[in-house]
Amino acid sequence: MSLTHEIRFTLNGVQRSATVGIEISALQLLRDVIGLTGTKYGCGEGECGACTIIVDGRSVNACLQFAVDCDGREITTVEGLSGDARAQALQQAFVAHGAVQCGFCTPGMMVQATHLLASQPRPDAAVAKRAIEGNLCRCTGYQKIVEAIVQAGESLAAGDVA
Ligand code: FES
Ligand code: FES
Repeated sequence: MSLTHEIRFTLNGVQRSATVGIEISALQLLRDVIGLTGTKYGCGEGECGACTIIVDGRSVNACLQFAVDCDGREITTVEGLSGDARAQALQQAFVAHGAVQCGFCTPGMMVQATHLLASQPRPDAAVAKRAIEGNLCRCTGYQKIVEAIVQAGESLAAGDVA
């Protein structure tokens, strides 16, 4: 017999509820129960950052959080960033710097970098590098991603985002 719980939470600004098994992760809740697949399953062990989401203003690995612990929380996934000027600046800068290659790490990077720009609007390269140290990328060598994050901060400061 598997135990289930009813949970209520805010997801990308919308009130949601779900009945979840006590053993499933927030990542399974998002991908398998709700069908939001922008948050990626990489390692499932808290090592790669592909599943990065924001929970109550903190960046967390969705694979490490139990779905039942989402009860009462405010959650933002990559899908919830579409109207965010910081995310738009990042998208433009990622494309301009060639920071998206296979794209698998990109949603987690976008969530993490958007979260960074919310607290530090103009990060330098060292700050950007530190912010993404929990997000693995097998393609870019990281430098392009760091440059893109710095560029996004500069573009926002200059009011230079389309
Ligand atoms: S899938 Fe969560 S950290 Fe890798
Ligand atoms: S672009 Fe391929 S893993 Fe980062």
